[in-house]
Amino acid sequence: REMPRVVFTPSGKRGQVPVGTTVLEAARQLGVDLDSVCGGRGICSKCQILPGRGAFPKHGVTVAEDALSPLNDVERRYDEKRGLAPGRRLGCQARILADAVIDVPPESQLHRQVVRKAAEVRAVATDPATRLCLVEVAEPDLHAPSGDLQRLNAALADQWDLPPAACPLSVLPRLQPALRKGGWTVTLALHRGPSGPEILDIWPGFFEAPLCGLAIDLGSTTIALHLTDLATGDVIASAGAMNPQIRFGEDLMSRVSYAMMNPGGAAEMTAAVRATLDGLAAGIATEAGIDPRCIVEVALVGNPVMHHLLLGIDPVELGQAPFALATSEAATLPAAALGIGSINPEARAYLLPLIAGHVGADAAAVALSEAPETSDDLTLIVDVGTNAEILLGDRTRVLACSSPTGPAFEGAQISSGQRAAPGAIERVRIDPETKEPRFRVIGCELWSDDPGFAAALGPAGVTGICGSGIIEAVAEMRMAGLVDGSGLIGSAAQTGSDRCRPEGRTQSYLLLAGAATGGRDIAVTQGDIRAIQLAKSALYAGARLLMDRRGVDRVDRVVLAGAFGAHISPLHAMVLGMIPDVPLDRVRSAGNAAGTGARIALCSVAARRLIEENVRRIEKVETAIEPRFQDHFVAANALPHASDPFPELAR
Ligand code: FES
Repeated sequence: REMPRVVFTPSGKRGQVPVGTTVLEAARQLGVDLDSVCGGRGICSKCQILPGRGAFPKHGVTVAEDALSPLNDVERRYDEKRGLAPGRRLGCQARILADAVIDVPPESQLHRQVVRKAAEVRAVATDPATRLCLVEVAEPDLHAPSGDLQRLNAALADQWDLPPAACPLSVLPRLQPALRKGGWTVTLALHRGPSGPEILDIWPGFFEAPLCGLAIDLGSTTIALHLTDLATGDVIASAGAMNPQIRFGEDLMSRVSYAMMNPGGAAEMTAAVRATLDGLAAGIATEAGIDPRCIVEVALVGNPVMHHLLLGIDPVELGQAPFALATSEAATLPAAALGIGSINPEARAYLLPLIAGHVGADAAAVALSEAPETSDDLTLIVDVGTNAEILLGDRTRVLACSSPTGPAFEGAQISSGQRAAPGAIERVRIDPETKEPRFRVIGCELWSDDPGFAAALGPAGVTGICGSGIIEAVAEMRMAGLVDGSGLIGSAAQTGSDRCRPEGRTQSYLLLAGAATGGRDIAVTQGDIRAIQLAKSALYAGARLLMDRRGVDRVDRVVLAGAFGAHISPLHAMVLGMIPDVPLDRVRSAGNAAGTGARIALCSVAARRLIEENVRRIEKVETAIEPRFQDHFVAANALPHASDPFPELAR
């Protein structure tokens, strides 16, 4: 028999197949990623391909007009009913008759390369844990009695080469009606479980809707949720809410103490967060117009206390040395067991692994998203929240720690502080000559000294100063000589600025007089500067501790992760000595890296295995018991630092 040559693009995979082989079969034989939900029955159209024509010198192949069999009835019917784009063929119908070059367009690839918006973010292949599978099941036979599920499993083996699938009790009662309604054809949502496939849902006949998942970043302050198409990794909709546990304690340790002091306190916090997650999930499905049954996967990241409370584990051990986790391993369990019941009742939730007692699945998600273990450069990654999670590493080793920065970077504990929201000052510049400030406010494009600023501001005016605003304000005050290296604000006499006003026994610097806003004065007080100094010293000391462990006193790159990291100006962060000295163009913001990591894990089984493996190798450093942490912390109190040099600042 003749064996034409076939080349698949873009993969470049090639081989020879017997004349008459379908393109789908050829793709399977050659290991080419060509999607199929219907198993080659001409129903799903997932297998669309684009045949090439003419000479392909690069591949050493010339393709004749009739290299593929002509359009058959199945394709013609499909084309009439749903329309086939020009040049496209169904890979399961088109047969290879002569040498061929076949392009697999991105939408026909199951394991898709996700193209990210931010160019610097690593692309990742999707490899979903749950996918749709159409099966044709044999009808029951009085003479050879067998159960419908057993015949379905025989069909799975025959048509999909799969081991028998488990069918949970919630799905089993729907099996018989679905088979009969679908004329012995059903579509399954099949999950790749640790001990074989599991049927999460069943639909009569051919069911066509994208399967979705929820990537959830469970922060101590905010919860963010991204409804994601499992096959493409695209975010369909996002939603967020404040963590309802805030009413039990602002920060992690106060929530742990709430659990310690109040019998049933941990259970209360568990119930609160589960109810919020379920409400968010229901809301996002409605908002996106997606059938909640199509949401079949969930991936969750959070710090250890959030993780334990979500699972219903009392976090009391996390509040005291040796900070033992109940479990640090990744887990897959029914989402309904976590109270997320408004999506598919059999949806599976994947919790990323935890790194250590203080370094959670959120840090693991950052590691997954940023992949320091693939870098030649020694990279410092900081995710700043109420706690800072810090990773330092390259190809050879990755180290991790967390450092208690407190909520100052989020605008809390600051006299005019507020969360980043419209009306908050987010950018500040101070003229070194006149010592006069100008600023920008969230929700307004103009600077405060631009004409029309007041009108553009809207009726709410300037409401306060957010985390990035206070960092810039303090750094600008330092650069303008209003604050000395110890963090002390000078008096009007010392600085020559009458914006420096006594406040008790210290000074404060007036950013905006209350009269201008119809409200109270917005000023930077000595207390504000102390709060920022404490927070930044903790951050810097954590980074230095990891650098000590690596035996280095410089890093090659700094990555600022988190919503907050996205808004910090690298220059101002370095003037304060928040981060170690490094050329400014080597400081990058990674946006919400924990959320991205959750989305990568949501869409890819391979990524789940990768981060589980990498987390085992990450070396944990416990800041609370390291004697050098205190020394680093004290030295880092000065602006930028008592002893470490910052040569880049001199440039
Ligand atoms: Fe479903 Fe070809 S595989 S239409």
